[in-house]
Amino acid sequence: MPSPHFTLAEGQPVIDPSTSITLPTLGGGGLTTLGDTLLIETLTHFNRERIPERVVHAKAAGAWGEFEVTNDISSLTSAKFMNGVGKKTPVLFRLSTTGGEKGSADTVRDVRGFSVKFFTEEGNHDIVGNHIPVFFVRDPIRFPSLNRSHKRHPSTNRPDWTMFWDFHVNQPESVHALMHLFGSRGIPDSIRRVTGFGVHTFKMVTDEGRFRYCKFHFRPVDEITHFSKEDATRMAGVNPDFHNQDLWCAISRKQFPVWKLYVQVMEPEQAETFGRGLFDITKVWSHKDFPLIEVGKMTLNKNPENYFAEIEQAAFSPSNMVPGIAMTPDPMLQARMFAYPDAQRYRLGINYTQLPSNRAICPVYAPYERDGMGVHTRNYGGDPNYVRSSLSPGVPSQVTSDVRHTEPIERFAFLGKNEIAVDDEDYVQPRELWNRVFDETERKQWVENVSETIEAIPAGLRQAVIAMFSKVDARIGQMMAAKGKETSHL
Ligand code: HEM
Repeated sequence: MPSPHFTLAEGQPVIDPSTSITLPTLGGGGLTTLGDTLLIETLTHFNRERIPERVVHAKAAGAWGEFEVTNDISSLTSAKFMNGVGKKTPVLFRLSTTGGEKGSADTVRDVRGFSVKFFTEEGNHDIVGNHIPVFFVRDPIRFPSLNRSHKRHPSTNRPDWTMFWDFHVNQPESVHALMHLFGSRGIPDSIRRVTGFGVHTFKMVTDEGRFRYCKFHFRPVDEITHFSKEDATRMAGVNPDFHNQDLWCAISRKQFPVWKLYVQVMEPEQAETFGRGLFDITKVWSHKDFPLIEVGKMTLNKNPENYFAEIEQAAFSPSNMVPGIAMTPDPMLQARMFAYPDAQRYRLGINYTQLPSNRAICPVYAPYERDGMGVHTRNYGGDPNYVRSSLSPGVPSQVTSDVRHTEPIERFAFLGKNEIAVDDEDYVQPRELWNRVFDETERKQWVENVSETIEAIPAGLRQAVIAMFSKVDARIGQMMAAKGKETSHL
């Protein structure tokens, strides 16, 4: 490739981009002029270099890759990217922490966001999940408050455990997610070895329109590993971008990370008697009752050439669904389907879908969404910009399996408060995690991890935290109380 010549933004040649133009004055000074377009472009562009960071999940690493079907599931879904063994689909991947800002450390205890955009022949399909299988709240109106309680205190501008626990003891549906967060998986040691969960229940729909409920799971092919608290804290200081570096270097070395994608599937008849765990994202489905069915493998094989253009400007959204996969009556999912594109319009502008990392690879014809800031397509030329025009070249897409809007409504249903009170059922799965999944070392570590966050909070709140976890298992309360006594003697 010939060496590029420096130019202004509109191509006019520039001899030296490092020197502005001045009219020299006595004493070695100089007067700059509005005629120095190079200087003006340089300064004004710099002032506009920043865009709003994501309101959550701001710190991340990302990479390109491909998804390959290893098990044909056309009996479950018509989605083309999941069908035909050997079928390959390009993907964009982004792995984030949740609470920290764009410049914050990677190796902190936090839920990791696990985002994948599949560029399919039927449009983009996004799985925007987390690295733990459950979420903290089930009413979307609580989401902004949840995140504020994990971020900076409005007055001290520091993360604040009092605020954190005050939120959770008063919204204890989060207890299951908290059990995961303070367990060993709360601090992964590498992006390459984290799990990814779609978390919500979706629908898979076949060509004939038959549907089943499903959940998506990514599992790394390498063993899942984590940092000790001490190593993570040290690393946060020594190399706050450790996870970014680890992923980037592995891909550069051609040690491509691989995940397998699985689905859990529930028949609609099973769903009728399953209870509220069907659409409540504070709950998991048992793997024994709903075993993992392999779908394919995702390999990350290309680092971004430019982080800002490809990863910062990426726009993942649960509303990006292809035919064969559909939404369900989970209010959290529906709220997310609104919130992400809304955030992206604010963050990236109304035409963010035209940006390279979001642009579909299949033909797009949406002539009723045109104009606005930053159009860089032909903008549908002279095609009619109003619907039902007899002059429009557009024809309806052929989609056989769109059951998006056919959810039955309960008889005599009426609009009312979405309050699902926390009850004993909310403690059953956290209890299983504690008793059956954690071993004794992990239990002790878990108690230590939580205990150090409640040392300095008001006594009443500390008791409330202990009381909340005692409902998971009385022993947790005892261990936390004992830990508290130990530290008060120090
Ligand atoms: C009502 C609930 C929720 C709301 C309103 C919400 C809202 C948001 C918003 C506004 C963003 C920033 C999007 C952007 O600027 O591009 C975001 C990012 C993200 N959220 Fe949520 N969220 C919710 C729940 C969840 C849940 C349950 C999960 C996981 C299952 C999740 C995973 C993520 C991930 C992975 C990102 C980063 C996406 C990326 O990589 O760009 N969120 N969320």
